[in-house]
Amino acid sequence: MTIQKRKGNFILTLVVGFILMISIGSSVQAAVSLQDATYNIGVKVFKSGETTESRSAGSVKSPAKIVVSGGKIQAQVAFKNTSLTEVKVGGSSAKVISTSGEWTTYQFSISNENATVPVSVMVPAMGATQTIDLSFQGNTADLVQGTEKKDTTTNKSATSDTKKNTNKTESPKTADDFNILITVLSAMFGMIALYGVVKKVKQ
Ligand code: HEM
Repeated sequence: MTIQKRKGNFILTLVVGFILMISIGSSVQAAVSLQDATYNIGVKVFKSGETTESRSAGSVKSPAKIVVSGGKIQAQVAFKNTSLTEVKVGGSSAKVISTSGEWTTYQFSISNENATVPVSVMVPAMGATQTIDLSFQGNTADLVQGTEKKDTTTNKSATSDTKKNTNKTESPKTADDFNILITVLSAMFGMIALYGVVKKVKQ
């Protein structure tokens, strides 16, 4: 191999390394880009370990809410207290934050907006405890900003039901979309560069 070829290979390797670094960096960033705020989020209720609807689906309110603060996410989910009680997540009782008629809202932390969380519930009609899976649908268009934490004056209207639909134009996930684009482009360039290296090495 001539010195020139070696030099070329070295530069190509540097380029590939650099591109891979950017691509990995932006993927990591994409996972934590939800702004601090309260969001409405769809929640599906599945039988434990399955993706078929649980018979208790009608006893869990969707959309629920997630409160994002400093990278941590608290889910606030309402359960029909006439059919499901004693809600436990990870073995401990979820915190009751409010009750309104037949609906009691529980709060517990989740790892991300697309998490599937096993929840244990007492079903009085059955006289038994059952486990259900709550699947948060964070990748849907339902993820709209409800109450902004920092600026309470300008966002009072955002909490009212009438404004919820117009809020759909807000896009708290723009950073995600950008990161995904960068990742895809980086991966593409990475592959092209890698192909170049392999071709040179083979020569
Ligand atoms: C008296 C009426 C009911 C009877 C006889 C009944 C019976 C059963 C039975 C036999 C199972 C399967 C459990 C197993 O495999 O051992 C089951 C599962 C389950 N039941 Fe009931 N049930 C009744 C009412 C309800 C109600 C009113 C709810 C909630 C609103 C409910 C929620 C569930 C849940 C969450 C499961 C676990 C599987 C799933 O997620 O669908 N059941 N029930």
